[in-house]
Amino acid sequence: MVNKITVVGAGNVGATTAQRVAEKELAKHVVLVDIMEGVPQGKGLDQWESAPIEGFDSRIMGTNGYDESANSDIVVVTAGIARKPGMSRDDLLNTNAGIVKQVSESIKATSPNAILIMVSNPLDVMSYVAKEVTGFPRERVLGMAGVLDTARYRSFIAEALDVSVRDIQAMVLGGHGDTMVPLISYTSVSGIPVTQLMSKERLDAIVERTRGGGAEIVKYLKTGSAYYAPSSAAVQMCEAIVRDQKRILPCAAWLEGEYGMSGLFLGVPCKLGRAGLEGILEVTLTDEERQALEKSAEAVREPMSAVKL
Ligand code: APR
Repeated sequence: MVNKITVVGAGNVGATTAQRVAEKELAKHVVLVDIMEGVPQGKGLDQWESAPIEGFDSRIMGTNGYDESANSDIVVVTAGIARKPGMSRDDLLNTNAGIVKQVSESIKATSPNAILIMVSNPLDVMSYVAKEVTGFPRERVLGMAGVLDTARYRSFIAEALDVSVRDIQAMVLGGHGDTMVPLISYTSVSGIPVTQLMSKERLDAIVERTRGGGAEIVKYLKTGSAYYAPSSAAVQMCEAIVRDQKRILPCAAWLEGEYGMSGLFLGVPCKLGRAGLEGILEVTLTDEERQALEKSAEAVREPMSAVKL
């Protein structure tokens, strides 16, 4: 375990993330930070009171400032507003950019060596804001998107084939939006190419459902967006880092020439270990997948150029 993990934003995603981090005992101290007076304190205390039952010794607490979060090893940023029905992730752009800017300045001042895991949407652009404002190297700024999109894709395939989710290997790349790129050529069921087990039509429908996976939940919830699977995804990234697992997970990473692209965050296969981003794997893509990835990059570049830093 590491000494401290801070979660900024004590809303649905943030609070659930903090609870999962503590239950896995990934850090000695778990700090929830939010601007809402009393909310992080109340949630943090409530979570700490679950420790005797769940049997974890991570000390969770909530606060409105950054003093208690000082020198965090990892900071998960979930601060911002969530989507309402009819809103795209890009509709959140300017509001969340302002919030992420302020949060990033505070993290830079109090936890200069932290690894950042960005969750606030639009994810790829918010990761860029955080990297620009903190000046942290790309090894220490990662965006959570691909793990979530891949989990959705895997869950739909497992359901369609009536097999264990554990046996579905897959990777969803690209931006965290409607242009995300589920890699069918790398999707397998215990090593068996999924195309041998499912018709193209069925698979295409699953790919479409994956692309709209976030919106499907927003439509049900009406007043907010998904948080159980998003928090699981952020915590899987934390765990890979804390336990130095060298896991290969699809994350938004700052590209410096990989896949022929530079100067943007995009979902690619990353190696995560104690240093954060320890490598980007460049896999062979079909022409169709490469075109889809480039289209996805364009969809990230557009809001990126519109954001004011
Ligand atoms: N500093 C700290 N916390 C902030 C700030 C700030 N400057 N501004 C807003 N917050 C807090 C809010 O007070 C709220 O408690 O961020 C929290 C967001 O929580 P929710 O509204 O419940 O949103 P949530 O569902 O958790 O989603 C958070 O993650 O998945 C993304 O699109 C989603 O951008 C959204 C983010």
